[in-house]
Amino acid sequence: MADKSIKKVAVIGAGVQGVQIAFRSAVYGREVSVFDIRPDMLKSADTRVKAWLEEYGKAGRLDGAESERAYARIRYFTSIEQALEGVDLAIEVVPEKLELKKQVWEQIDRIAAPETLLTTNSSSLKSSSIYTNVARKDRTFNLNFMTPVKDDLVEVMWNDRTSEETKTLAMGFLNDLKLVPIVTRKEIKGFSHNRVWRAIKKETLKLWSQGYCDYEDLDRAFMLEFSTAFGPFGLMDIVGLDVIRDIEISYFNESGDPTDQPPRALIELIEAGKLGVKSGQGFYKYPDPAYRSRDWLYKVPPADIG
Ligand SMILES: NC(=O)c1ccc[n+]([C@@H]2O[C@H](COP(=O)([O-])OP(=O)(O)OC[C@H]3O[C@@H](n4cnc5c(N)ncnc54)[C@H](O)[C@@H]3O)[C@@H](O)[C@H]2O)c1
Repeated sequence: MADKSIKKVAVIGAGVQGVQIAFRSAVYGREVSVFDIRPDMLKSADTRVKAWLEEYGKAGRLDGAESERAYARIRYFTSIEQALEGVDLAIEVVPEKLELKKQVWEQIDRIAAPETLLTTNSSSLKSSSIYTNVARKDRTFNLNFMTPVKDDLVEVMWNDRTSEETKTLAMGFLNDLKLVPIVTRKEIKGFSHNRVWRAIKKETLKLWSQGYCDYEDLDRAFMLEFSTAFGPFGLMDIVGLDVIRDIEISYFNESGDPTDQPPRALIELIEAGKLGVKSGQGFYKYPDPAYRSRDWLYKVPPADIG
């Protein structure tokens, strides 16, 4: 297996992240099978892939022939058995719920060829907490793609059973996808870079939900200080507030620390259907969130000191 590489991947779960992972993999030459329990998600995945290919075309990142080839590399399946046929790597991208992920991993382990590698795109769950009933433990590890359509960053984390061969194959795959891997060499909940983001998220959610500071001011401060295009609340909208809630719950489930629980104010937004970009409103309204405007950023126009 020394000269082996990841040529064909299965993406299990075609939501916000799954489609992006499929898209990135196809653009960089991998064959991709996409499976979701909801056929409507497969349809919407196809629409999103077409839109990104068009964007890449307009930006000069792909010519027409490359775009067609990338499109043809993605195939959609309503049968997980078919989706897993002949794949070198299965990437599970289902919601951040431990029991669900365990169940999907067991299913993949039963169906996929023994040499297929198995990973999760979980934001916070260790692969060793998911692999309990999986035989191929040596072929498992964590990945955490950021926004793979736009960002070149990915986190990768090995567990206590990940074999050296698996590490080599995984790193080769990330290299083929032109990603910059941030490696967490031994398991810790939430990886490395993502733990830093989580600390920011937890603190800003606390300051806002307990009435210390407006979320817009917290975002402004962040954007001005670190020269970013959005602040923590803008980013939470992009990720999806329901996904944020699930991640916080997963931290709480592990620590038992009440301060790790998602604040009530966040749950209320979700209950009101405000899920962020995907529902048209979260902390901000979309498609043109206030934070994109210079007037919003500066609150008042900067003084003319010339
Ligand atoms: N949204 C983000 O920006 C982001 C970033 C990093 C990591 N993540 C992680 O990626 C994972 C997925 O997040 P998402 O935002 O794409 O979620 P999502 O809710 O948008 O998509 C999840 C998809 O999984 C499907 N699904 C549910 N059960 C399934 C099953 N048994 N088999 C196959 N498909 C199933 C759902 O129908 C849905 O389409 C989570 O673990 C999340 O924490 C998300």
